[in-house]
Amino acid sequence: MVSTFLGLAAWFVQVQGQSFVIDDNTYSHEWLSRTVMPSKRSDMTATTVGDGIYLIGGCDNDQEWSTGAGMYLCTGLTKTTHKYLPATDSFESLPEAPRSRYRHAAAAVGSRIFMFGGRDIADNIIQEIDVLDTETSSWSTLSNPMPNATSDLSAFVDGNSIYLLGGYNAIYAAQDQVMIFDTVESTWSPSYPLTQGRGDAASAIASGVAFALGGFSHENNFAAPLDHVEVFFTTNPSGGWKSRSAMKKARGDKAVAVLNDMLHVIGGEAKNENGHSAALMDVEVYDARTDTWYVGGSIPSQRFRFVAAAHGDSIYIFGGQGALMGTYGEAGSKYPILDVVEQYKESVTQAVSSTPILATFSALSMFMPFSSIFMC
Ligand SMILES: *[C@@H]1O[C@H](CO)[C@@H](O)[C@H](O)[C@H]1NC(C)=O
Repeated sequence: MVSTFLGLAAWFVQVQGQSFVIDDNTYSHEWLSRTVMPSKRSDMTATTVGDGIYLIGGCDNDQEWSTGAGMYLCTGLTKTTHKYLPATDSFESLPEAPRSRYRHAAAAVGSRIFMFGGRDIADNIIQEIDVLDTETSSWSTLSNPMPNATSDLSAFVDGNSIYLLGGYNAIYAAQDQVMIFDTVESTWSPSYPLTQGRGDAASAIASGVAFALGGFSHENNFAAPLDHVEVFFTTNPSGGWKSRSAMKKARGDKAVAVLNDMLHVIGGEAKNENGHSAALMDVEVYDARTDTWYVGGSIPSQRFRFVAAAHGDSIYIFGGQGALMGTYGEAGSKYPILDVVEQYKESVTQAVSSTPILATFSALSMFMPFSSIFMC
C-alpha cells in the first residue's frame, strides 16, 4: 500500500513537474482558470486590499503597428476600476478613476490606493496622484503632483511610506531615482538610487527586505532586458542598494507577487533574435533567506504586459497582451488585448522523505478530496 502511495505521489509530482523543495517543504502549485474580467486590458495595476484585488486603468485596445511611429502602439486607454473578489470569483464595478493612464504604479497604505506616474494616450507622463478610498469607493486627486514622475516605474510599501523606483522619463531614459512618498504628510523625499537605471522592472518586499528586479534600459537601446536583482534594507538605508543573485532569465514587464514570503516572478517580456518583443511563460521563485532561485512551472497561456496580485494562498494574474497576430511590422498586425484571469494556487507540504506514510497522505491530499483518500 505504502509503495503504491509513494509511487502515486511521485507520479503526481512528475506530471506537475513544477514543484520545488526548500528544507523539508515541498512547494507545489496548480493553475486554475477564473472568471474573465468585465473588460480587456493590459498595462494596468492590480492591488490587494482586504477581500479584493483592485484593477485600475491600463490599455484597453489592441496594440497595433503604427507605420508612422515604426512601432506597436496602444490605441486606447481606460479609467475603469474593477474589484475582483477571490472568494466568489466575481467582479464589482467601481467609479472610474479621475483620468485614464497606463504603465503607472499603484500601492496601498491602509484602505487607500495611490496611483503614480504612467502615460496618457499622447505619451505624456502623468504627474497627478489619484487616490482610491476603498472604504468609500471614491476617488480624489492630491493637490501636490509627483516630482520627477516617470512611467513604467515600480513601487513598494514600508509602513506609511511608498517608495517609487526608476521608470522612464519623458524621452524613455531609464532612471535610477528612488523617491519616498509619505502618505500621512503627503510629502516627498529622495532616497538612495538603484545601482542600475531601469523601467518595466518590478519591486516587492520579501523576508522584510525590498527588491528591484529586471526591466529594460535605454543603455543598450532596449535590445535585451536585465536579469539583475538588487536589494535594499529600509531599516539600514545608508547601505544603499546591493546586488543579489540574478534571475535565471532576463525579463522586463513581468508580474511579481509575494506568496509564502517568496518573490514569484511570472512571465514577462524578452527580445527575440530579430529584436522583437517575445512573451515568456515561466515562473521563477526567489527565497530571500538563502538568495536562491527556484523554477516554478509556467503560465498556461502566452501573454505579457499583464499584472499579478497575491491573495490568500494564491496569485491571480489578469489580462495583458497575447501573441502577435499577423506579420511583424505590417499594417494590421497587432498584439491583442486579453481579458483572461488565471489563479496560481501554491500548496506547501512536508517532503515525502521525512515520515513516509504521513507525508504521503498530505502529498496526496493536495490532489484528492479527503473521502477518496480514506477509501484507499
Ligand atoms: C527630483 O530630481 C531632482 C534633479 O535630479 C533632484 O534634485 C530631486 O531630489 C528629485 N526629487 C526627489 C523627491 O527625489
